[in-house]
Amino acid sequence: MNRAENHILVIFGALGDLTKRKLIPAVFKLKRHKLLPEKFAIIGTGRIKLSDEDFRKKMLDTLNEFSDDNDLKKSDAEEFVSSIYFTVMNFADDSDYPGLKKKLTELEKKYGTGGNVIFYLATPPSLYGVIPLDLAKHGMNDQSNGKGWKRLIIEKPFGYDLQSGKELNAKLLKHYEEDQLYRIDHYLGKETVQNIMVTRFSNGIFEPLWNRNYIHHVEITSAENIGVENRGGYYEDSGALRDMVQNHLLQVAGVIAMEPPPSFESNAIRNETLKVFQSLRPMTSADVERNVIRGQYGPATVRGEKIAGYREEKGVKKDSRTETFVALKMYIDNWRWGGVPFYIRTGKRLPTRVTEVVIHFKPTPHQLFGRGRAVNDSCNQLVIRIQPDEGILLKFGMKTPGSGYNVQTVNMDFHYSDLKNETLPAAYERLLHDCMTGDSTLFARADAVEACWSFVQPILDTWKENKKIKIFGYPAGTWGPEHADTLIEEPGVTWRYPCKNLSDDGLYCEL
Ligand code: BG6
Repeated sequence: MNRAENHILVIFGALGDLTKRKLIPAVFKLKRHKLLPEKFAIIGTGRIKLSDEDFRKKMLDTLNEFSDDNDLKKSDAEEFVSSIYFTVMNFADDSDYPGLKKKLTELEKKYGTGGNVIFYLATPPSLYGVIPLDLAKHGMNDQSNGKGWKRLIIEKPFGYDLQSGKELNAKLLKHYEEDQLYRIDHYLGKETVQNIMVTRFSNGIFEPLWNRNYIHHVEITSAENIGVENRGGYYEDSGALRDMVQNHLLQVAGVIAMEPPPSFESNAIRNETLKVFQSLRPMTSADVERNVIRGQYGPATVRGEKIAGYREEKGVKKDSRTETFVALKMYIDNWRWGGVPFYIRTGKRLPTRVTEVVIHFKPTPHQLFGRGRAVNDSCNQLVIRIQPDEGILLKFGMKTPGSGYNVQTVNMDFHYSDLKNETLPAAYERLLHDCMTGDSTLFARADAVEACWSFVQPILDTWKENKKIKIFGYPAGTWGPEHADTLIEEPGVTWRYPCKNLSDDGLYCEL
């Protein structure tokens, strides 16, 4: 990877969780890998008054707690934090911005960064339409006449629905060029998501089969075993559809389903994923009722431990109808994918943490060896494991040794961990570095964000309007409501269950 260009990184929300857990450890890693520019400093901003020294101490603690560096050296960490500064500000108060500008100008002189700045918005989403406008008001978006580049990284959720997503884009595009805006979707930063493109477009063996003629259906699962943790307040207004499907999982579907781009240039790739989002078949209310299943986890005992239900979590209403699980069936109406169902499933408090894509190839036209449907179904699968234990697994049928012609499923299994000398860069490390080098390939473009909202909006509207649509309870530690199985209509074909239910409790219920 190239070394990034000299610049200052300004983090809004520097006292928050994201900065602590992801951003500072990722920037530190870039430094350790010699990918940070020679001239570089960080300004953290937050609402509590802290001196630079106080903030540096906090960042040292952060590194000790969250850096995955096995041999973290005190001297390296201290050297790293010595170029971190802090400015107190209320982001919603425009009179606080000149203070930031002054600090930025001083540090630009001190470090010789040539006016290049990345502003990272690690704040509540309500500020995404505020901070960039105030920065612009005070001229901090200006990149004219050798003033250096200015880039903005914006966390998800980008908008709350189609309308707010569009409004936010319009607001930002009034003051910034599209190529200054880096809408982060950390799933695109995952090594294995990028590897989907390499698997598809650098191997002659897969691409010819990658279409409706050979693929029966595609399954994308992102399961988490954690609950909403301390994010109940945010999650209550979001739910799994907005939190995971509108962004991460549709982006993964985009990479799975895209046409080969003419070049590996940022817009060439993003043009192709956009076409996928634009080809998603819009759902009618009847489709939503039939093809989208939502659920919410209830209390349960998992491996002997009592787990609270979603409604008992902090910040969650006692009669909440927010979904913590969603499974849906969708179609991509284009030449390549006509008629091939794509199944997406995600949820919290499922039995395990796994994100994977399963390409189910069609069975052979004639079952010569009299295989049962169940065996046949588990052959012919390509499993792309996005996390954990990143890798690729091909499942196919083989003759069971001995007399007769019995077929059993066997695996060809590649694990990234087998590449002994390679470590997988964390998503934030990769994406921050891409922004530092001006590469926006793995960031969501305005039109793509809006196209994804357009697909999700009818689901949100139908749920809002039709209160009769059920939300199913599922015990924590299980694979979500069993009704999700009914989405796959073909007899004998089911979701892939990488592990069994763990809950000792209860049955599925209707909320
Ligand atoms: C975030 C969601 O974007 O992604 C979280 O807001 C979710 O709710 C997380 O837990 C999952 O990310 P990962 O990388 O752990 O799969």
